[in-house]
Amino acid sequence: MAPLRPPALFIVLALLLILGVVDPVTEAKIPAVIVFGDSSVDSGNNNVIATILKSNFEPYGRDFYGGRPTGRFSNGRVPPDFISEAFGIKASVPAYLDPAYKISDFTTGVCFASAGTGYDNTTSHVLNVIPLWKELEYYKEYQEKLRQYLGKDQANYVLSEALYIVSLGTNDFLENYYLIPVGVRRAQFSLKQYKEFLVGLASNFIREIHALGARKISLTGLPPMGCLPLERTANFFRRPGSCNEEYNTAAKDFNGKLRIATRKLNKELPGLKMVLSDPYDLFLQIITKPSSFGFEVAERACCGTGFYEMSYLCNKHSLFTCMDASKFVFWDSFHPTERTNKILSDALLKSVLLPAFS
Ligand SMILES: *[C@@H]1O[C@H](CO)[C@@H](O)[C@H](O)[C@H]1NC(C)=O
Repeated sequence: MAPLRPPALFIVLALLLILGVVDPVTEAKIPAVIVFGDSSVDSGNNNVIATILKSNFEPYGRDFYGGRPTGRFSNGRVPPDFISEAFGIKASVPAYLDPAYKISDFTTGVCFASAGTGYDNTTSHVLNVIPLWKELEYYKEYQEKLRQYLGKDQANYVLSEALYIVSLGTNDFLENYYLIPVGVRRAQFSLKQYKEFLVGLASNFIREIHALGARKISLTGLPPMGCLPLERTANFFRRPGSCNEEYNTAAKDFNGKLRIATRKLNKELPGLKMVLSDPYDLFLQIITKPSSFGFEVAERACCGTGFYEMSYLCNKHSLFTCMDASKFVFWDSFHPTERTNKILSDALLKSVLLPAFS
């Protein structure tokens, strides 16, 4: 057979394009992942601030690339890393304040999250971490740097097509409202009022990033926070070792309110495409039936005794730290293992994120 002459080749290529066999767009649909939130997504910003809430030492990160503790509150990667990878971007999202990185590292993703923070300003005061308004200030600074680095048009393209992950709220309840003996906010708000107050703050935050150019947003719901090992331990005097049902109900109910807010904001804000990534039900299934997911232990964490250790209390001298974190749902008493993060991320990618944004 004679080789295809250029016109024939052109027709074949055109056909392939029409049939969608060849993708003419080389740029990924999501050029970057931009992250706001707390320890569920922090990739190392707390390393450089004056807080006791840190995780940039062993055994944190022992299953991360190179066994490196990065400031992620896990033995390995956290959800934005898996999400970034699934969209064909890089396999981990760098922290904005990490001095190892510069603007050229942030063109495909950046993380402004700070462990211990919340929607409520007063939550960030409890552990002296970065308040959400300050994460936003860093984001504005990032926009300027990105425009200088990529040029205005390309930077604006990245900023408007990026996937924004917003993941926080647990600390507003556990480190603030429910704090023993009396949370700062508990004197001022009923639980119902506080949830509404937080949803209002979350909505305002979405309005602010939308005004700055964000269009594709994943708002993350709360986990069954009454089943975090630390909360089970704190529940000791009421029902030893069991989940705090009051906290779980608060989380579930709060997620319902976030879902309503998501619908409202999608109507209110032009061009916005926001989804709620709600991990609650699957996370609770993993905790209640760990063996169906290949886990052996759900009620205590891998690090140390698993009942209370986190941050500086989870360190290389902690006794009894487990050998294989993939058998544990929780890495420290407040945070999932990498394997749990992956299962939750994969499920949310499949059901919510990839259908909406790819
Ligand atoms: C939180 O603090 C910032 C900075 O002081 C302020 O601009 C903002 O209005 C505060 N938000 C609330 C809800 O108090």
